[in-house]
Amino acid sequence: MAKGKSIFVCQNCGAVTRRWQGKCESCGEWNTIVEEAEPSGIGAAAMRRLDKRRAFALEGLAGAPAEEARIVTGLHELDRVAGGGLVPGSVTLIGGEPGIGKSTLLIQACAALARRNGRVVYISGEESTTQVRLRAGRLGLAEAKVELAAETGVEDIIATLGLGEPPSLVIIDSIQTMWSHTVESTPGTVTQVRASAQSLIHFAKKSGAAVILVGHVTKDGQIAGPRVVEHMVDAVMSFEGEGSHAFRILRATKNRFGPTDEIGVFEMTGGGLSEVANPSALFLAGRDASSPGAAVFAGIEGARPVLVEFQALVAPTTLGTPRRAVVGWDASRLAMILAVLEAHGGLKLGQYDVYLNVAGGLKIVEPAADLAAAAALVSSLVGASLPAHAVYFGEIGLSGAVRPVPHAGLRLKEAAKLGFKRAVTPPPPKERDETVKIARAEISSVASLVAEIAASGVQPAKAARG
Ligand code: TYD
Ligand code: MG
Repeated sequence: MAKGKSIFVCQNCGAVTRRWQGKCESCGEWNTIVEEAEPSGIGAAAMRRLDKRRAFALEGLAGAPAEEARIVTGLHELDRVAGGGLVPGSVTLIGGEPGIGKSTLLIQACAALARRNGRVVYISGEESTTQVRLRAGRLGLAEAKVELAAETGVEDIIATLGLGEPPSLVIIDSIQTMWSHTVESTPGTVTQVRASAQSLIHFAKKSGAAVILVGHVTKDGQIAGPRVVEHMVDAVMSFEGEGSHAFRILRATKNRFGPTDEIGVFEMTGGGLSEVANPSALFLAGRDASSPGAAVFAGIEGARPVLVEFQALVAPTTLGTPRRAVVGWDASRLAMILAVLEAHGGLKLGQYDVYLNVAGGLKIVEPAADLAAAAALVSSLVGASLPAHAVYFGEIGLSGAVRPVPHAGLRLKEAAKLGFKRAVTPPPPKERDETVKIARAEISSVASLVAEIAASGVQPAKAARG
């Protein structure tokens, strides 16, 4: 760095040190410390500003506007996650891995809002306007009245946005490419990202425009650099998905103006992202219910019920130590279920390889999936397929007891809606919803689960009950 002293800033947590270090002592991350120029003159300028201090009027809490008018983009899944549309003057950070579809999502949101006669501006710091236009053309959005620029200077951007009628929506793609000349660091560093975000937030509050910042996330899921921005913005959303699968999930992780348990589901198609009103149908598409080892789990993602298929394969091992492999679920959770099935279900699994897969590429974290996983495992082991029209949910404890889980009513309703006739569930704690047209088989222990599946179609050659 040319003039003045350097400081060293951790790009993960924003901690400042005087020397370069391999490991940040504040957050423990390796290789995140970058040299930046020390902010100069702040002390002197601040002293000068002290002379210009002025008093301001304080206000009371009463007299809030009934409900903030929202900017409804017309992209329903996005509006839903935002809590019913974007709030004027709010700043939203959308994080996601490179290539997941953030730019596609936002150009579609811009076009949808432009169609509803909002003024929308899309600032791309990564792609040229030609590239953005090409994508819009491919998505069939070339006619949309979206104002476009490829710029990275925050002061210039804010000056441009200040001309004419204030925009309803401004997209900044991405915050890592922006730079403000009020600080000396290079674009993408914590100091730059923070300064740029600060200016854009100030612009949003002053003009009433909703601003969406795009942030790239690193492999381990952190919004790189912009993690320091998370607490400055009004809402943080993450755009997730498996590269090899078509579905994408938009999830709010922070929202000052709405719930954080809503999700939006999209499918990446040749013609861009299409909204998925019924995610369960997407995840269950192409299911072969007749083969053993498949159980449908009635899960909850955010506040939405989602049905997914758990697939298990239990096969005799040829190795000294049998293999346990799991995709889309927690490996230690699988180990626990296997141990409980052995201890309380009377199964002998020591001589079997066990594979478990959540179909469709979804990652399930709910303990409520225990029962579905156990049912799939037992079904594969005994070679008996489960009833095609049954769903499963319930948490399994180390004692072998099947325990109640939240949102049973929502799960049952979704299963009934998709034509499932029977739900295998824990005994309900208190109240039960009799309006849902689905038969409930209440199971209180893994022993009765094993007994029921084994009784439904035993093939003695493979059955290995002890
Ligand atoms: P993009 O929006 O550029 O991702 P990000 O901004 O998050 O980096 O999306 C890139 C991917 O999306 C690319 O791999 C191709 C895919 N894609 C489609 O499958 N269909 C489409 O219509 C578009 C525009 C992109
Ligand atoms: Mg992009």
